[in-house]
Amino acid sequence: MRSSQSQPSSMPSVKTLLAVLSGIPATVPPVWLMRQAGRYLPEYRALRKRADSFLDFCYTPELAVEATLQPIRRFHLDAAIVFSDILVIPDALGQRVRFEDGVGPRLDPISTMEEVARLRETGVAERLEPVYDTVSGAREGLPDGVALIGFAGAPWTIATYMVEGGTSRGHERIRKLAYDAPDMMEKLIGILTRAVADHLIAQVRAGAEAVQIFDSWAGALPATLRGHYSLRPITEIASRVRAACPDVPTIAFPRGVGTGYADYAAVPTISGVSIDQGVDASWAATALQGSAAVQGNLDPLVLAAGGRAMEDSIDGILSALGGGPFVFNLGHGIVPETPPEHVAALIARVKGTG
Ligand code: CP3
Repeated sequence: MRSSQSQPSSMPSVKTLLAVLSGIPATVPPVWLMRQAGRYLPEYRALRKRADSFLDFCYTPELAVEATLQPIRRFHLDAAIVFSDILVIPDALGQRVRFEDGVGPRLDPISTMEEVARLRETGVAERLEPVYDTVSGAREGLPDGVALIGFAGAPWTIATYMVEGGTSRGHERIRKLAYDAPDMMEKLIGILTRAVADHLIAQVRAGAEAVQIFDSWAGALPATLRGHYSLRPITEIASRVRAACPDVPTIAFPRGVGTGYADYAAVPTISGVSIDQGVDASWAATALQGSAAVQGNLDPLVLAAGGRAMEDSIDGILSALGGGPFVFNLGHGIVPETPPEHVAALIARVKGTG
């Protein structure tokens, strides 16, 4: 049940996700799932065929709006996340980005100051206009009580794709550059920090009600460089979002930073931290929930497995974190082999209806 749907229409709709991100715990926590739109849904796989490349799909608002709304039609989720990708930023900056089936993203890697200087900072917002059209279209199509989340990658994570040329396991190139070429890294991170902040603010102006910053590869940084390359740019972005849109909460997802999550939760302009499945939920309740709302942290693989293992994991998370401001989510994105019925079962269990 969504609280706003039981209220008379004259009352402003209270979106549970936004209440929790403002620090107010909910009796029944709001739930949404990272990568809730995507290949595990047959209707997404059918829709995806209507564009040639994945980026064309992302830049066709009619298709991207539909992909955003598909999981909302199927499940009782409390939020939708705009359908797009973190790699629209390098694409808009003029670096060639393509997605290869079964391989993932491919970029022509950059590693020198000259290549960084060739990125086109002006006109980024214009090139991303289709994403903002998706945001406004999705907002119009959402039922009452469901919040719309805009997002972007964090500068460090986007930089890993730009420098490594795709998904990397060890991130050796960029980690070495951070020591060998700090000026080049500084310039790249600066460009990305401005582009990401502008992109999030533009999504809010188009109708996003909260924003999430995905630092999926924050855990690849040595702890000694994490403050400089992950926490500092995210803090700067969150402050710019707060200054431009004071009522819009920012959620940070620095995946894999362990006890380092406490540094992100302590930032006043960060309203929520999304924790991966490696973080102990009881530790998070004690160390994080006093300063920020916590989101997470079900293992995406236990969602794929379903059954008793999934129920026990859900119950454990709810009992550890449900007493404070908490948003139920996964520790990372839904994996493509996940049966959609498991998502329905998860939501029913969180809502106490199944
Ligand atoms: O439902 C949602 O979560 C909204 C859409 C969304 C996508 N990507 C769509 C997508 C979001 C929020 C993202 C974020 C994203 N993209 C991240 C951060 C989160 C994370 O997973 O760590 C990252 C690192 C990327 C970069 C990216 N995009 C990779 C590595 C890949 C290939 C791997 C894969 O999962 O396919 C993509 C492609 C991508 N982005 C797909 C989708 C639905 C699959 C493309 C397809 O339909 O074939």
